[in-house]
Amino acid sequence: MCGIVGYIGSRNVKEVVVGGLRKLEYRGYDSAGIATLEDGKLKVIKSVGRLVNLEDKLVTESLDGHLGIGHTRWATHGRPSDDNAHPHQDCSGRFAIVHNGIVENYLQLREELEAAGHTFRSETDTEVVAHLIEEVYNGDLFQTMIAVGERIHGAYALVVLAKDHPDTIFAMRKSSPLIVGLGQEENFIASDIPAILEYTRNVYVLDDGEMAVVRKDRVDCFTLDGIPVLKDVYQVTWDAVAAERGGYDHFMLKEIHEQPKAIRDTLTGRISEDLSRVVLPDLTLSDDKIRAIDRIHIVACGTSWHAGLVGKVVLEKYARIPVDVEIASEYRYRDAVRTDNTLIVVISQSGETADTLAALRECKARGLHVLAITNVVGSSAAREANDVLVTWAGPEIAVASTKAYTTQLIALYLLAVHLGQIRAELTLAQARDVLVALDSLPQLAEQVVDTAPHMEQFAKEWVHAEHTFFIGRGLDYSVALEGALKLKEISYIHAEAYAAGELKHGTLALITEGVPVIALATQPSLYEKTVSNIKEVKARGAFVLGLTWVGNEDLAKSVDAVIYLPLTAPDVAPILHVIPLQLLAYYAAVSRGNDVDKPRNLAKSVTVE
Ligand code: M6R
Repeated sequence: MCGIVGYIGSRNVKEVVVGGLRKLEYRGYDSAGIATLEDGKLKVIKSVGRLVNLEDKLVTESLDGHLGIGHTRWATHGRPSDDNAHPHQDCSGRFAIVHNGIVENYLQLREELEAAGHTFRSETDTEVVAHLIEEVYNGDLFQTMIAVGERIHGAYALVVLAKDHPDTIFAMRKSSPLIVGLGQEENFIASDIPAILEYTRNVYVLDDGEMAVVRKDRVDCFTLDGIPVLKDVYQVTWDAVAAERGGYDHFMLKEIHEQPKAIRDTLTGRISEDLSRVVLPDLTLSDDKIRAIDRIHIVACGTSWHAGLVGKVVLEKYARIPVDVEIASEYRYRDAVRTDNTLIVVISQSGETADTLAALRECKARGLHVLAITNVVGSSAAREANDVLVTWAGPEIAVASTKAYTTQLIALYLLAVHLGQIRAELTLAQARDVLVALDSLPQLAEQVVDTAPHMEQFAKEWVHAEHTFFIGRGLDYSVALEGALKLKEISYIHAEAYAAGELKHGTLALITEGVPVIALATQPSLYEKTVSNIKEVKARGAFVLGLTWVGNEDLAKSVDAVIYLPLTAPDVAPILHVIPLQLLAYYAAVSRGNDVDKPRNLAKSVTVE
C-alpha cells in the first residue's frame, strides 16, 4: 500500500526519487521520506503528510549522493507521523530501508531485538527489519538479506541502502510488487512503472520471492535463497504522458473521458471480423475444459467486485453456468464448495490487491484453474493466474476506479459469450447480437460522457445532501451499487444502493422530503416494476433523478428529472449507464472541495490485508 523508489546513477538523486514518489502517491500519501548515501554518510529526511511537505523540507537540503531510496506511506502499523515515516534505520545508522507490506511476526522480532539491546524509534513493523539487518550483518549484505528474508513472515517489497556498500541498492520482494528500471549507467527501482517511465522503458518485473542487487552498471537477480535468476526485459509500450493528467483538472475526470478509448482497446482483436465470435487466442482453457466447467467463482474487492456482479448475470445468461460472486477478504477465509471443474475468475485492476491475490493463491494451491481479469500486465495476478484477460484501460491513477470498471465489464461479456458459444448455449445469432452491441459501445460512450454538464448541475444542487439512494432492478441494481460506492468514496456523501423492489422491506423509512434518489431504469423487461418503486419513494418526498434510454418519454411522468442515454441492447447498458454516475460523484466531490484523486483514508492499491 506504499510507494517505493530507488535510484543509482549520476542524475540528481533528489529529483529522481521525489519525482518518482510523486507518480506513486496514489499508493499512499500520509507521509514520505528519502535516504541518500553521500560521502560515506546516510542522510534520511522524512515528513508526515503529503509529499509536498517532504519537498518543502528538501528545499534547503543538497542531497548530492548518487544513490537514494524514497517512500510514500499509507499507514498500517503506527499512525502517520515523522517517526513512523520511512526510511527506517538501525541503531548505528548503517542501514536505511523502505518497505511496502506487513511484517506479520514483527512483535516477536521486536521483543527479541529489544532484548538484544536494540532501541526502537517508531511504532512500525518495518523498523524491525532495519534492526534485524544490523543484528545479522557480518560484512556480507547479500547473505544478510537471505538470512533476514528467512526470519520475516508476511508481505514485503524491501529496498535497502547500506553505508558499507556505496555502489549498491538491495531490493527484495515477497507478495508486494517491485520492478527494476534498466538505464545506461544508471538503474531504478520502483513499486510501479509510472515512477520510472520518464527515464526508461526497459524493466525487470521481480517475481514473488526474488531479489535484485542493483548497481549503476548492472542488475543481478536471485531467488530469496540466493540462486541466480535470468530475467527477461519487459518493454513498456505505453506513453509517459498517458500516466499524466493530460489537461484535465483531475486524473479521475481524465479517466472518465478515456472510457470510449479504453473500451475500444479492450475489444480490439477479440471479436471476429463478422462480429459473430469472440477471439481469445491466449486462453489456455481447452474447449473440453470449458464444457466441463460446473460452476464459476468470481472473486474480487470493491469496484472489481461490482463488475463481478454484472459478470454473474451475463455468464449465467449466456453460458448457463452457476456463478457466485465473492468478496475476496471473505472468500479466502471460508471453505467454499468447489469441484475440480470450478473455474475461478479473479478481477483486479491493479492485480496486486492482497485479499484477491491470497484467494487466487489458495485456489491455485488446490489445483483449480484461475483466470485473472486485470489491467496491469506485469502484476502478480497476471503472472500467477493460469489465464489472463487484460483490460487495456491504460494506467488508472485516480483512487476511484472508472475506466477499469467499464473495461472489466467488457472482459466479462467477452468471456461470457466465449463460454456460451463453446458450450453451445448461445447461437451464432444470439452471440452476434451481443457482439454488435459491444462493438458499438465506444461511440455511444462518447455521447454518454457528454452528459457531464447535467451531472455537474445535479452535483451542485446536492452539495449539502447527507444521504442519497441509488435504486434499480437486475443489472441496474449492480450499477447502482457501483454508483453509490463512487459517491461515498470521493464526495463523502452517504449513499446506499438498493434493489428497487427491496426498499419497502425497511429502507423506505429513510426516505424523507428532498432526499436525492437516483433511479436506474434501463431494462425494458423490468421497467414497469422499477417505476412502481420510483413512485414509492416519490410519494415519501424524494427528489428522483431517473436514468433511461433515449426515446422513453414515459419516465418523465414519474420522476423530477431524467437523463436520457443512447439506446443499446439492455444487456450491455450497464457499461454506459455507470458513466453519468461516475460524473455525478466526480462533480459532487469537486463541489465539496475534496481531493478527488486522493480521497481521505483510501489508497489506490490495497496491497495489505
Ligand atoms: O486493484 P483492484 O481492482 O483489486 O482494487 C479493488 C478495490 O480496492 C478498488 O476497486 C476500490 O474499490 C476502488 N477504489 C473503488 O473506486
